[in-house]
Amino acid sequence: MRVIKTKNYEQMSKKAASFIMAQVISKPDCVLGFATGTTPIGTYDFLAEWNGEGIVDFSRVKTVNLDEYCGISSENPHSYRYFMDKNLFERINIDKRNTYLPDGQAKDCNEECDAYEKTIGSLGGVDLQLLGIGNNGHIGFNEPAEVFPKKTHRIKLTESTIEANSRLFEKKEEVPRYALTMGIQTIMKAKKILLIVSGKGKAKILKKVLECDVDPKVPASILQLHPDVTVIADAAAGEEL
Ligand code: PGA
Repeated sequence: MRVIKTKNYEQMSKKAASFIMAQVISKPDCVLGFATGTTPIGTYDFLAEWNGEGIVDFSRVKTVNLDEYCGISSENPHSYRYFMDKNLFERINIDKRNTYLPDGQAKDCNEECDAYEKTIGSLGGVDLQLLGIGNNGHIGFNEPAEVFPKKTHRIKLTESTIEANSRLFEKKEEVPRYALTMGIQTIMKAKKILLIVSGKGKAKILKKVLECDVDPKVPASILQLHPDVTVIADAAAGEEL
């Protein structure tokens, strides 16, 4: 595992975007795994800027996202489909038909989760998966648990995640209680993983993720076993390392 510390959020975002750009340049038809949340917004801004300048071409890239809330439509500004469209896909030359997220409105969630696994398989797997971590060590929406959930599945969000995500909603009651998420095995099957972490609030959990025993109660700790992980942390998130 490679750990890179940067001066600030902007430098973290620029390094992460450079890493993704390098992946696209090396393999123009690669499959990128994307994440939502506050952390990757700066990374997406750099990618959009460089795409506009003709430095990086997404026309043959395919993408899969980690997760989606259950029960809200893709037009809802809180949905992850909406987030990805606004923060990245509508700003770059990607074919939107090549961008995949689980359908949080599917009638049969189990069927949708199986179909999502098949989609990822039919694309040939993920070349580079971008991740953030939650305050509780979750990746995607794989919350702390007794065992590592393997495949894409429906999950009940923990109070700590509902609380953390409520900052983006008007009221805490509006935060969906369930989501569909890639499983830990789905994430670990990516050929490369890029974890970005920002802010003082993540310093303790980042240290734990990197240094504790591998433990499903700290879901991101499993990344210690992946052969190709790069962590980029800004100074505040990296202060305990
Ligand atoms: P954040 O979320 O980037 O908004 O902090 C990260 C996560 O919960 O995975």
